[in-house]
This record gives sequence, C-alpha cells and structure tokens, in this order.
Amino acid sequence: MARHFWHLVCIVVALFQGPFPPFAEEMMATKQATTAGPRIDPAASHDGAASIRTEELIDLLNEDLAREYQAIIAYTVYSQVLKGPQYMTIADELEKHAKQELNHALLIAKQIDYLGGVPTAAPKPVMVSTDAEEMLRFDLDNENETVRNYRQRVRQCEGLGEYAMAEVIRGILVNEQEHQIDLATALGKDVAELTTPQERA
Ligand SMILES: [Fe+2]
Ligand SMILES: [Fe+2]
Repeated sequence: MARHFWHLVCIVVALFQGPFPPFAEEMMATKQATTAGPRIDPAASHDGAASIRTEELIDLLNEDLAREYQAIIAYTVYSQVLKGPQYMTIADELEKHAKQELNHALLIAKQIDYLGGVPTAAPKPVMVSTDAEEMLRFDLDNENETVRNYRQRVRQCEGLGEYAMAEVIRGILVNEQEHQIDLATALGKDVAELTTPQERA
C-alpha cells in the first residue's frame, strides 16, 4: 500500500516539474506579447518611400553625392563654353550654380560620414554637347532628377528619425529648385511637376 502511495507521489511531482502543456506556453507567450507593448520599427513608421534602413540611406546619399559631382563638372564646363549674347546671363548663373553644387557635395559627404559610410569619389556621367540649348536641357534634366531624389531623401531621413539631416537636405533642395527655375526660364519652359502633393518635402 505504502509502495503504491509513493509511486503516486512520484508521478504527481513529475507532472508538476515537467514542461508546461502547449496551451499553457501559448497563453504565456500571448501574455508576454501584450504586456511588452507594440514593437515600433522606426523605419516602418512612415509611408513606403520612407521605410529604409541606415545602410540604404548611406547608399542613396552616395548616389546624391555622385549627382552633385556631376553637377559641379557640368556647370564648370557649360558656364565657360556657352557662347552668344543671349546666353551671357545664364552663363553667369551657371558659374554660381557650380559653387553651390560644391557646397552641396560637402554637406552630403558630411552626412554620409556621420552615418558611418564612406563618401564616394565617382561622379555620375556628364553629358557634353556643343549646342547651347542642349547643354541647358541636360542641366535641367539633371536638376529635375536631383529635386525628385532630395524630396524622397527628406522623408526617408525623417522616417529614420534623422530630423537634423532632413533639414540639411531641405536647405539644399531650396537651392536645387532655384537652379531648376533658372534653367527652365532660360529655355522658356515651365518647371516640370515632379512629385505628388504627398511626396512633397
Ligand atoms: Fe546640388
Ligand atoms: Fe543644382
């Protein structure tokens, strides 16, 4: 009788020491998940365009930097080779643009370094032409591309919580939009609509 009693005690002890039944583990997991609060991923807290990781932002900023180098080279060359009295005003403007693009390049390189990346040393290809109007069209196309990208970059920086960086890029964007207007005016065109109202920075 005593032997049967101790046998029963051993079984009860083993049951209490054993693993929790699956339903109990599930209940505990649910409890932990609800008490820990929602998991907020800063990169996913904004819309799709803003949902990127720091490494992707570094790559995109390096693309921006390569576009800035491209702009420095294009404006340096075009401002000197544009000929004809009708282009003298815009040639002076292009010379100013070249200096502003260098400032942009320095600012973007600084942001890349701050994020732990290495600033690129390679420009995007520069289109060349002997036709003045074609040169201005190349510049306008590049500026449109630059503005489109910086508007995305502002929102991407904010998506990562890099608000000061977003402000730096907003400052550059103001300059780029002025370049766009200068070139469109010289070509007798309107500035193209590049982004939807939701994409505006
Ligand atoms: Fe620029
Ligand atoms: Fe520009």
